Amino acid sequence: MKADSVKIADGVYWVGALDWDARDFHGFTVPGMTYNAYLVFGDEKIALIDNVDAGFYGELKARIEDAFAKEGKDVKIDVLVQNHIENDHLGSVPEFLADFPDVEVYCSKKAAENIPLQFPGLDCPEFNVIKTGDTLDLGGKSFTFISANMLHWPDSNFTLYNEGGILFSNDAFGQHICESKRFDTDVDPGYLALHTKRFYANLVSLSSRLVVKKVTEMTEAGYLDKVTMIAPCHGQIWTNPQTAIDMYAKWATGDADEKITVIYDTMHHSTQKMAHAVMEGIMSEGVEAKMFYLKKDIESDIVAEILDSKAICLGVPTMMNGPFPRVGKLMYYLDCLRFGNTGVRKKAVLFSSKGWAGGAIRKLTENLNAAGFDVLEEDAVETLYVPTDDVLDQCYEVGKKLAQMVKE
Ligand code: FEO
Repeated sequence: MKADSVKIADGVYWVGALDWDARDFHGFTVPGMTYNAYLVFGDEKIALIDNVDAGFYGELKARIEDAFAKEGKDVKIDVLVQNHIENDHLGSVPEFLADFPDVEVYCSKKAAENIPLQFPGLDCPEFNVIKTGDTLDLGGKSFTFISANMLHWPDSNFTLYNEGGILFSNDAFGQHICESKRFDTDVDPGYLALHTKRFYANLVSLSSRLVVKKVTEMTEAGYLDKVTMIAPCHGQIWTNPQTAIDMYAKWATGDADEKITVIYDTMHHSTQKMAHAVMEGIMSEGVEAKMFYLKKDIESDIVAEILDSKAICLGVPTMMNGPFPRVGKLMYYLDCLRFGNTGVRKKAVLFSSKGWAGGAIRKLTENLNAAGFDVLEEDAVETLYVPTDDVLDQCYEVGKKLAQMVKE
């Protein structure tokens, strides 16, 4: 196949793969994905930063060949820096090693331990284990390695190209999108911010404390001062790196907008009416709100809105003494994502309808408190069968009160 590389700096090329067809990445709903890999041409050594998913090696190889042709050199890669070993970056490594058997592989200790477990039976090379502060000289170009342990896997690593000021950040600062051009400036800023937020909410939020720690550590070490470009392994390349760093700093510290996310599901339209009434109350205070209907909307979008909301309002009917089961997926997901790890607990209000005995509010209160939310139990609204005008007025007042709280 023929596929072009993209020069992103002097002697540095994007050589990744475009997964136009991806719609799901282990449960994260995506509109396509990219697996970014980069070639760095030193005077003495040429390095490939990361790899691509299984099935995309042909595309990676075609772009590598194109980059070498543009540099007027025969194809010869000396170094592979494998910053992370999740399949989307590692899947093509066996084919790569078959083509480049003499390559020196640099990776974290955890990656060195686990790559053989990812490919049972693969004849692995000897790994050069790297840790924070280690350097690699390519001749005229050098790397400094920075451990990104648990951002978001134990093997994760960042590579800083010192002379060019490019931070190869692997998953961090990425977006799951697939576009025809490679830079941040090539897409609408709102679209880029939305997909950076979706990526953070769905894949990084659990590690918020570590994001703060890593940004502080990299600032104190002087690494971030050098960075003029962030080249992640997914999505657009940041020529304005501070934009991405500021977004991560905001979300990682729990700084949220004056915004409420309303989520509901319904069996016979009772909680739906209650959700609409809650929304009217929020709107009466001029506070931004987004509404999601669990039957129709997807968790990947819901959690992205929750990320920068100060509060949520959640309502489902009672079914068999507990919450309507469709909310279970969201509850389990919120428990995984741990938005409360920022140290800031978002406020939550519940509403529900029931036939005879209740149970949804009690169970959801337990779930949300455990997931790091601050459930305002005294404001919960529960109706027997169809909500009366009085109940809907109560929902309106609850929405209004919550909106006033997020404005404080
Ligand atoms: Fe893009 Fe954690 O893999």
